[in-house]
Amino acid sequence: MTQTNITSVSHTVLPEDRWRKHGHKGGVLWFTGLSGSGKSTLAMALEAALFARGFEVFVLDGDNLRYGLNADLGFSDADRHENIRRAGEVAALFAKSGVLVLTAFISPFKADRTRVRDIVGDGFHEIHLDPGLAACEARDPKGLYKKARAGEIAAFTGISSPYEAPENPELAIDTDSQTIKQSLAQLVAYAERAFDISDAE
Ligand code: ADX
Repeated sequence: MTQTNITSVSHTVLPEDRWRKHGHKGGVLWFTGLSGSGKSTLAMALEAALFARGFEVFVLDGDNLRYGLNADLGFSDADRHENIRRAGEVAALFAKSGVLVLTAFISPFKADRTRVRDIVGDGFHEIHLDPGLAACEARDPKGLYKKARAGEIAAFTGISSPYEAPENPELAIDTDSQTIKQSLAQLVAYAERAFDISDAE
């Protein structure tokens, strides 16, 4: 912390007040996985499914944030650390406001994900989407693996930049062996359980 002469100010609206208003707890489902593993697709599908059930829910997506908040960042290790630090802080604020945040960032470094877990606290759930590198590369929805293999993209995750897989994620989904519909059903059930308000009061 570099700031001095600051003090934190307490809210008088309590987390429980917000949970009651929304009908569920706030929190973060933090999707992590290689490019092409299904993070954005599943996060957006889950957002739609939970929204339809009355959840206050919002996706923070890596590509989307890189158009705005994180437009000054590239893909060096240092920039990825900063990308996830900012995304984690924003996710934590959303969660505090009572929203269920779904995030879709490769977030390749364990230490960065652990830091976000510490900032968010209880409502943080790490979801590892893992179809395997071969499946991601075969899908290659944006043609980026092809470019990375041709040496046209430097430091591409899984090819020329590391991905540190989670050891104990709350949920791991093999998005190669099951359909999007099956993964989505699994995630909806998980979210309903994890953010249920009935054990919160
Ligand atoms: S992270 O590593 O910092 O978490 P983030 O999720 O924000 O990455 O962005 C990843 C997206 O950026 C990928 O889905 C892909 O579309 C794009 N991208 C462009 N260059 C790279 C690269 N060198 N490595 C990984 N993804 C890249």
